[in-house]
Amino acid sequence: MDNDSIKVLVTGSNGQLGSEIKAIASTYPMLSITFTDIEDLDITDEKAVNQAIQSLRPRYVINCAAFTAVDKAEVEVDLATKLNSVAPSLLAKSCKDNGCKMIHVSTDYVFDGESKTPYDEHSQVNPVSQYGISKLNGEKEAFLSGVCMVIRTSWLYSSFGGNFVKTIIRNGKIKPELRVVSDQVGCPTYARDLADLILKIVSKGHKGFIPEIFHYSNEGVCSWYDFACEIIKLSNLDCNVMPIGTIDYPLPAKRPQYSVFNKEKIIKSYHIAIPQWKESLGNCIKILKKEGFI
Ligand SMILES: NC(=O)c1ccc[n+]([C@@H]2O[C@H](COP(=O)([O-])OP(=O)(O)OC[C@H]3O[C@@H](n4cnc5c(N)ncnc54)[C@H](OP(=O)(O)O)[C@@H]3O)[C@@H](O)[C@H]2O)c1
Repeated sequence: MDNDSIKVLVTGSNGQLGSEIKAIASTYPMLSITFTDIEDLDITDEKAVNQAIQSLRPRYVINCAAFTAVDKAEVEVDLATKLNSVAPSLLAKSCKDNGCKMIHVSTDYVFDGESKTPYDEHSQVNPVSQYGISKLNGEKEAFLSGVCMVIRTSWLYSSFGGNFVKTIIRNGKIKPELRVVSDQVGCPTYARDLADLILKIVSKGHKGFIPEIFHYSNEGVCSWYDFACEIIKLSNLDCNVMPIGTIDYPLPAKRPQYSVFNKEKIIKSYHIAIPQWKESLGNCIKILKKEGFI
């Protein structure tokens, strides 16, 4: 390993975001990244977290581990709290004690979705689900450490793992018609774009690290229905997509009706151009086609 390389520890690295970081890691040769998931490092285990951080002494910890099953979180509140609220605070404390910085990923579900204008980093938080509550508490705790940058993202998808894009394709291949909610709008985020942003930040060393809250998603706004139509179109599937209301598709956890981010802060701070959601979706679909998923 190069002595000048920047050591990074990734948690939850078998998930969507962690897998994307893994997939592009070789394009950041200045980084020396240790990838872990629950079997190597359970982030709810305080002793294991301290041991891992003390022995590796990374410059950055990127926390991609989370309880992301939004509906399950309504009933598995304790587990969601342990993973999304308590664990980030353990990680952040250990980072602070060992002189490293942390990048923690949070969600648009910290908002209630009642706004009519894009949410910026100062917008009032008010989660309407247990998942949202657990993530909000986690980001607050981690942020208080003073060594943590929080990146809130929304509607994350990837060629890895399970997500809306893959569900629509899987169903679109076998069903003549799909009914998709058209009265919830937001911003899809290709996890590869977010992974690239995070690695850009850590590869700049401490100069690139700002311990504040940031919003990041792809550019553009759509409903789940618009998103599904584009997925079907780009996948060349013969399936009709029908718009329905949230009321016609009841789920255990309430979703924000409107979860559009204002991304000016991250764009200006890191001088980045964020890809449009349709362009990024096309990139993900190309990979899924190559892999034979479509
Ligand atoms: N998915 C979305 O739509 C979305 C939207 C906005 C924000 N986010 C946030 O973005 C981040 C990344 O999400 P993602 O979709 O990449 O998540 P994901 O695919 O669910 O990945 C989470 C990973 O963490 C692992 N994990 C679970 N418990 C753990 C533990 N105790 N210790 C270590 N690892 C553990 C999971 O393993 P198992 O699979 O075995 O449980 C999984 O590999 C999360 O913070 C999430 O809240 C996600």
